[in-house]
Amino acid sequence: MAKVLETHNITKKFGVTQVLKQVNFAIYRGEIVGIIGRNGSGKTVLLKILAGLYYPSTGKIKLVEDIENKIGVLIDTGFLPNKTGLQNLLIIASLCKDITKKRCYQLLETVGLDPFNKNRYKNYSNGMKQRLALAYVLMEDPELLLLDEPFSGIDKESVVVFRNLLLSLKKNGKTILLTSHYQEDINLLCDRVFEMDNGTLVEVQE
Ligand SMILES: Nc1ncnc2c1ncn2[C@@H]1O[C@H](COP(=O)(O)OP(=O)(O)O)[C@@H](O)[C@H]1O
Ligand SMILES: [Mg+2]
Repeated sequence: MAKVLETHNITKKFGVTQVLKQVNFAIYRGEIVGIIGRNGSGKTVLLKILAGLYYPSTGKIKLVEDIENKIGVLIDTGFLPNKTGLQNLLIIASLCKDITKKRCYQLLETVGLDPFNKNRYKNYSNGMKQRLALAYVLMEDPELLLLDEPFSGIDKESVVVFRNLLLSLKKNGKTILLTSHYQEDINLLCDRVFEMDNGTLVEVQE
């Protein structure tokens, strides 16, 4: 199988606190990989490094070339509270190349949100907020999805929608990395699971 991403000895320090010690792992095309670990263990920091939002203190990330501009990232998004879901997507779409209004409607339908719902974002439930975040992640049809705690704080129905959506993305050849502090979410979905343990990633054997 083809590698999509590989890390070499990634470390991350904030002041004197060493969050990541030696992170070495690879993701292969078309798989769903999970990272579990207790709160504060460094999962989000690692995802931010992979997404290019933080620099590692030392170490390297290798991405295959054709994926460099095709990464979708779900990490605490900043939608406008007084706009509807559709309005938020349309505003973002206007900043992107080649994203049509029709695509925004379709994205909302894909994640199970009603494009004509007049509710403002601030009145959305957690599940609706997370669905909108996923619609945004999918906007530019990414090959690699980095999803930080996609199941956190959402209702059961949204969990099911997410699971099915991630499985159908996988079926279409997309690669997905997600974190969770619940092992249960992850066992059902992931081909491989790693645990963040004291600053390193250890593959969990079934
Ligand atoms: N920008 C930052 N500055 C300083 N410390 C940070 C920063 N971001 C994360 N940390 C620290 O890194 C550690 C890991 O955080 P995080 O990756 O968010 O954990 P997790 O996502 O596994 O719950 C925590 O101790 C957190 O306080
Ligand atoms: Mg986190």
